[in-house]
Amino acid sequence: TGLFTYDPGFTSTASCTSKITYIDGDAGILLYRGYPIEQLAEKCDFLEVCYLLLKGELPNGGEMKGFVTNISQHVMVHEQLSRFYSGFRRDAHPMAILVGVVGALSAFYHDVMDINSKEDRYISAIRLIAKMPNLVAMCYKYSIGMPFIYPKRKLGYAENFLRMMMGDPGDDYLANPVLVRALDRILILHADHEQNASTSTVRLAGSSGANPYACVAAGIACLWGAAHGGANEAVLNMLAQIGDVSRIGEYVNKAKDKNDPFRLMGFGHRVYKNYDPRAKLMRETCHEVLNELNLHDDKMFKLAMELERIALEDPYFVERKLYPNVDFYSGIVLRALGIPTEMFTAIFAMARSVGWIAQWDEMISDPEMKIGRPRQLYQGVTARDVKYISGR
Ligand code: CMC
Repeated sequence: TGLFTYDPGFTSTASCTSKITYIDGDAGILLYRGYPIEQLAEKCDFLEVCYLLLKGELPNGGEMKGFVTNISQHVMVHEQLSRFYSGFRRDAHPMAILVGVVGALSAFYHDVMDINSKEDRYISAIRLIAKMPNLVAMCYKYSIGMPFIYPKRKLGYAENFLRMMMGDPGDDYLANPVLVRALDRILILHADHEQNASTSTVRLAGSSGANPYACVAAGIACLWGAAHGGANEAVLNMLAQIGDVSRIGEYVNKAKDKNDPFRLMGFGHRVYKNYDPRAKLMRETCHEVLNELNLHDDKMFKLAMELERIALEDPYFVERKLYPNVDFYSGIVLRALGIPTEMFTAIFAMARSVGWIAQWDEMISDPEMKIGRPRQLYQGVTARDVKYISGR
C-alpha cells in the first residue's frame, strides 16, 4: 500500500491514546476509568458516572453534592433556543432536530468559550450534560404539540428527564422508582465506549479547534445511523416486523442471505466478539421493568429472547461471533417506560454526550494533539490536460 497503511473502517488503527474507557472485546469486558461496568451499574447513578468519566475518579459525598448543584444550575435552556424548535416540521425525526439544537448551543456559548482554558472546557461539559435531557424532551413535546415542561432542580437526572418527557402541565408526574432506576442504568451503559464512530467524529471535528457543541452535533449526526445508535430504534422496528415467534426462522435466514442487505439489528459488534457486557445488564433490567409493570408476557420481549436463543445456536452467528449488543434489549426497556420508538436514539445521544465531551476534553488537553487528517489511496485517472469547452 505504498506510503500509507490502508485500513478501511479503521479496524486496526488507533487514532489516539486515552485513559477513559477500556474494552476487551474477546473477553466481553468494559471498564470506565478502570471500574467494571457491572459494578458501576449496580453501585452508582448516572451523574456519579459522569463525574468519573470527566474527572477520572468517583466522587465522594461532598464532591458529588457540588457536582449535582453545578449541573442543576445549568438545566435551563435559553428561551430563544426554545423557539428554535418551531422552525422544524412537527413530523421531523427527533435526531434531525437534536443535531440542529445542540449545534445551536454553539451560537449561545461562543464568545465565552476558550477551548484552551481547562475551566471553560469543564463548564462547557457541565452545560451539555445538564441541558441534554431538556433538549431531548423538547424534541418529543414539540412533535406531539405539547408545551415544553421546565426541569425541576431538586429531581434526579433520570427522573427529571422522565417528567419532562411524560408529564404535562395539568398533572403532577409521579415517577416509578424502578423505572427511574432502569433509565438511569440505560444512561450508564451508554455513557462512553471509547473510539466508536460518533466519538471519533467528535474528536475529528474538535481537532480543528471547532466549538465543542458544534462537534457534539457532528457526533449526534453520526450516531443516528442504524449501524450505530440508530440500532435501538431499528431493533424494535424489526421485532414489530417479525411480529410472531413463528416467523423468526424466516428473518434469521434473511440475515444470513448474502444477497439480502437485511441484518439482525442489535446483533454483532466491531469490538465485542463475545457477549456484550452491556447487553447482559440490559437483559436483567428488562426483566425487572417488565416484572414491575406486570408485563411478563410482553410479546416483544418473548420474541427478542427467542430470537436471541435461535441466533446463538445458529452456526452462521456462532462462527462470526455475533452476539446481542447493548441495543438489543434497551429498546424493549424504553418501550416499557412508555417512550416512543423514534425517541430511542435521542436518548442514546443524551447518555453518550458525557463520553463525547470527556473525550473531546482529553484530546484538547493532550500535548500531542494534531488535527485529524487521514490519507487516501488515490485510484482516479492520472494527470491530463484540460481542453476548452469548444474542443470537448
Ligand atoms: N446480522 C447478520 N450478519 C451480520 C450482522 C448482523 N447483525 N453483523 C455482522 N454480520 C456478518 C457480516 O455480514 C459479515 O459476514 P461475512 O464475514 O460473511 O461477510 C460478518 O458478520 C462481519 O461483519 P462486519 O460487517 O464485517 O462487521 P463490522 O465490525 O464492520 O460491523 C456492526 C459491526 C455492528 C456494524 C454490524 O455487526 C451490524 O451491522 N450490526 C447490526 C446493527 C447494530 O446492531 N448496531 C449496533 C452496534 S452496538 C451499539 C452502537 O455501537 O451504537
